[in-house]
Amino acid sequence: MKERLISLIEAALDTLIADGTLPPDAKRPVQIDRTKDKSHGDFATNIALMLAKPAGMKPRDLAEKVIAALPEDNAVAKTEIAGPGFINFFQASDWLNSLLDKALADEHLSVARPEQVQTVVVDYSSPNLAKEMHVGHLRSSIIGDAVVRALEFLGHKVVRQNHVGDWGTQFGMLLAYLGEQKGEESAAELSRELSDLEGFYRAAKQRFDESEEFATRARSLVVKLQAGDEECLKLWREFNTVSLSHCQAVYDRLGVSLTAEDVRGESAYNDDLSQVVADLDAKGLLSEDQGAQCVFMDEYKNKEGDPLPVIVQKADGGYLYATTDLAALRYRAGTLGADRMLYFVDQRQALHFQQMFSLSKLAGFVPEDTDLAHMGFGTMNGPDGRPFKTRDGGTVKLIDLLNEAEERAYALVKDKNPELDEDELRTIARAVGIGAVKYADLSKNRSSDYIFNFDQMLSFEGNTAPYLLYAYTRVASIFRKAGLDMNQVSGEFQLQEEAEQALAARLVQFGEVLQSVADKGLPNLLCLYLYELAGLFSSFYEHCPILNSDDEDLKQSRLKLAALTARTLKQGMELLGLRPLERM
Ligand code: ARG
Repeated sequence: MKERLISLIEAALDTLIADGTLPPDAKRPVQIDRTKDKSHGDFATNIALMLAKPAGMKPRDLAEKVIAALPEDNAVAKTEIAGPGFINFFQASDWLNSLLDKALADEHLSVARPEQVQTVVVDYSSPNLAKEMHVGHLRSSIIGDAVVRALEFLGHKVVRQNHVGDWGTQFGMLLAYLGEQKGEESAAELSRELSDLEGFYRAAKQRFDESEEFATRARSLVVKLQAGDEECLKLWREFNTVSLSHCQAVYDRLGVSLTAEDVRGESAYNDDLSQVVADLDAKGLLSEDQGAQCVFMDEYKNKEGDPLPVIVQKADGGYLYATTDLAALRYRAGTLGADRMLYFVDQRQALHFQQMFSLSKLAGFVPEDTDLAHMGFGTMNGPDGRPFKTRDGGTVKLIDLLNEAEERAYALVKDKNPELDEDELRTIARAVGIGAVKYADLSKNRSSDYIFNFDQMLSFEGNTAPYLLYAYTRVASIFRKAGLDMNQVSGEFQLQEEAEQALAARLVQFGEVLQSVADKGLPNLLCLYLYELAGLFSSFYEHCPILNSDDEDLKQSRLKLAALTARTLKQGMELLGLRPLERM
């Protein structure tokens, strides 16, 4: 609707330019907003206020001319001038009804396909394999996955990239330790030992610190590994297989859509690194600084005005995180054909990504018009407002956190519904517990830090997963109670009460909301939309009898509205990676 109004107004401006009312250079982006108060119509524009000066007219007079020049359109019932010169638009009700019918008849809820289908490469989760996944990887995995789902639903081609850290110096230490253990143990025992990756890492680190001989072996193993020694590679692969299977278990448990196919770790770029440096050199971008190969770009300086270089090769010849990222940028643009790349990585890496994006374009690794965006996020904090830690100060393992969420949800649900059988209780507890953890993260603006709080996220009130899941079951139960199928509603929409009009107007915004989630990488916009939709449904349900309405036509219309609400809520929750339940 917004786009439609914008093109109507643009056409009107063209007419006014052609007849000399407006100077030829008067055109500027048309701003259209939804009105807060429905008595002012559905949309408003300030265009007459913006152009009054260049036109040399009073805003209200210009508004009148704009309205007169608007092409006929059956989506617009009425226009009106308000205040100093705003133009208000009233959507035609038969137009709204036809949008609702279209959505109801379409599996895809009539969300428009993009004019230009893009290939979008999304880098998310990307843990370091030497250690077990911890809460820091939660945000990237969850937020990235929701945006990926929205992009795919809109019709874009998404390539997931799990850029795991599988190639650092810490691998020498792990390999040395693995080699020591392996003598006495079978493969099965080894894999059991690695099931506690965290413990394995600590034990290896301890050996490294206490034994000079071990440390020397570890260092030489890194060199051998990076030089492609077969024996080392074999051990390294074994280690990564186990480590990745831990990650996969977390993804499956969380309902994150990443699979083994999406893994393309740092090691995959090993063979490209020398070429990256050579190409930077050929472009004349390299300078040597204390033996290291660096790129200095004018726009990157610290507060004191000192240059902030990108180091691409250390004095000892080793490559860095940045070198790998440049190789990955080139691969994603060239081989994967990305039109757009999104990086869901901690906000603290903001400078790194800005530098990578500038440099990859400067070096010609990525075409100028490729859209590169770092979708940074804040820290997940504990109740004390400090980064989340266990009671004894250790990092919290994701799996422990999810277990606790599920247990807490189980207790809550059992308390509410003691009559449910064990199987159903477990299913609900999983959807509620895991859903609560995910939703708590998704519903906040990603750029801010947030406090992890079980009680809050598991509450059935407020903008939470339990509230939304429950709201959906309530709509679904209307159909169940009446023995009706929500996919078999018919009749004509008649929106009489304000509560049903408000609900209807919000329902047709689903596509617009998904579009902004995909553009901005902000799933919290979808959370807020669904939360408000659920609230609008509640007041509709309160004010407008559905099943015991005496008017059969009205009853059908309201059932249709309920059906579309249910489907929109369900689709929305699925895009957020929640598991909607039919009852709870
Ligand atoms: N492994 C890194 C970390 O845990 C994140 C990698 C993000 N992706 C990238 N292309 N740099 O901090």
